[in-house]
Amino acid sequence: MVSLVGLPGGGKSTVGRQLARRLGARFLDADTVLEERIGMPIRAYFEQHGEAAFRDLEEAVIDELTREGAAPLILATGGGAVLRPANRERLKARTTVIYLRSSPDELYRRLRHDTQRPLLQVADPLAKLRELYEQRHPLYDEVAHYRVDTGRPSVATLVNMIMMQLDMAGLMSALAPAGQAVSAAGGGSAASAAGELATPAAFSPDPAP
Ligand code: S3P
Repeated sequence: MVSLVGLPGGGKSTVGRQLARRLGARFLDADTVLEERIGMPIRAYFEQHGEAAFRDLEEAVIDELTREGAAPLILATGGGAVLRPANRERLKARTTVIYLRSSPDELYRRLRHDTQRPLLQVADPLAKLRELYEQRHPLYDEVAHYRVDTGRPSVATLVNMIMMQLDMAGLMSALAPAGQAVSAAGGGSAASAAGELATPAAFSPDPAP
């Protein structure tokens, strides 16, 4: 199982869905599973029950979903999943964790009209994203086995980069359903995947915010 962590708006669901499609693996979004269970949008749940109650449910869902650690599954987590040490431990021990790192400014450009994320319904969402980055970037880094900068590359390129990283780590066969051979070059050519990897910020050891 591969899990994706990172701030809201960094593309966890979009990249995760495409990665799963390329691998022929299942895709699950922990927030969607949670919303199905509570029968309401997360924003409404936050308003009625508060953040702590939401985090309890989130912890239970992550515990349950990551128990299938060996399954060919791509799991997108909510941006705050790394806040609890128990989640970090489970994600790291049971799954291959990929941190999709985006800068607060980049996220703000994508999320400035968002009405669904409870933490961003504030007067100054950019300041909030900066604060979340300061607080969480070290936690995402701590839990992640690999980090990918989402800056300039397209979704397809990000997926290629992740697949090459998984390939180099010898993890591809564990993610493809039995009997299905998947190569990092996937539907595209190895040359184009490698060419796109020339993007310098990719997999940088310590990028600035
Ligand atoms: C949250 C991010 C959301 C969702 C909830 C809390 C956060 O998920 O879990 O609104 O604390 O950053 P996304 O990262 O998918 O937006």
